[in-house]
Amino acid sequence: MKQDNILLVGAGGQIGSVLTEALRTVHGADHVIATDLRPLENQSGPSEVLDALNGAALEELVKKWRVNQIYHLAAILSATGEKDPMWAWNINMTSLFNVLEVARQRSLNKVYYPSSIAVFGREAAHLNTPQYEVLIPETVYGISKVAGENWANYYYRRYGLDVRSLRYPGIIGYQSLPGGGTTDYAVDIYHYAVRNQPFECFLRADTALPMLYMADAIRGTIELMEAPANRLSVRTSYNLAGMTFTPEEIAASIRKEVPDFKISYKPDFRQAIADSWPASIDDSAARHDWGWKPEYDLDAMTRDMLLHLSSD
Ligand code: NAD
Ligand code: SER
Repeated sequence: MKQDNILLVGAGGQIGSVLTEALRTVHGADHVIATDLRPLENQSGPSEVLDALNGAALEELVKKWRVNQIYHLAAILSATGEKDPMWAWNINMTSLFNVLEVARQRSLNKVYYPSSIAVFGREAAHLNTPQYEVLIPETVYGISKVAGENWANYYYRRYGLDVRSLRYPGIIGYQSLPGGGTTDYAVDIYHYAVRNQPFECFLRADTALPMLYMADAIRGTIELMEAPANRLSVRTSYNLAGMTFTPEEIAASIRKEVPDFKISYKPDFRQAIADSWPASIDDSAARHDWGWKPEYDLDAMTRDMLLHLSSD
């Protein structure tokens, strides 16, 4: 059992709630401290209330728990961010600077900072978008992730801080609900399917986006964080791919298990965000450097999602 002490910021969210438990399995429950804005329930290890905008409070927790790694998951996602861009920018950037600064000042071993496919915009190649591509995002969320990736790279090059990052596609899991993104429909749709209810999709039927099953996302995150530092050639953020599908394709996959499932389409402001993102991304750098390989395709994910949601 490794004896790192790991603090997660934003641990109550869609990814953080699953990642916390996975890290507790690897590192021991007592060595993984989950934090979020509000008290976290049903914890198998320590948890604290933390507003990541408060750098002094973050530092107190780092000292209290002898933390040597931080996973910084707190962010305002793409769709919610567009409702109040300056608020989203402030949260996404101030929280990141607080994490990077406490990690630098207290010489922490590692920091994890997730980026997103939202770093890309319409000028980027739409299919198989390369690792090194023009980055002109159209959301405040995407702008904050481009800036964040570059600050991660800066802290690595300037201060030797071991910051690691993945550009997640849309993440889909049965364990938790999504927190205000453009890919949220691909989680919500399964909740409707298990209840045998028709689903109204906020994207057009033919909108192809990169997606990744939660089990793969969590495994990939831990594999990246455990990879030897000298294997990592990308210090901004690695492209990470799993699968690509459209709303009509995920509905067809669900119909293989739930034949009567019905979907209708009513695109809203999130359509423009989705249209600015790639349909698929090239993750060959992650595959080459640290052996990334997703396990779930669309049908395997659908079977697993429906199995778990039906048994709830
Ligand atoms: P989420 O919205 O579900 O969770 C974010 C958590 O951060 C929430 O629990 C929220 O309470 C917390 N938070 C917000 N402001 C905070 C603050 N000031 N201090 C402390 N906590 C605060 O997000 P998620 O989907 O779990 O995403 C986690 C990370 O992964 C984010 O950085 C996001 O940009 C990135 N990401 C997610 C996806 C996805 O599909 N879910 C895709 C790409 C990147
Ligand atoms: N799933 C996220 C979103 O839609 C992508 O970062 O915002």
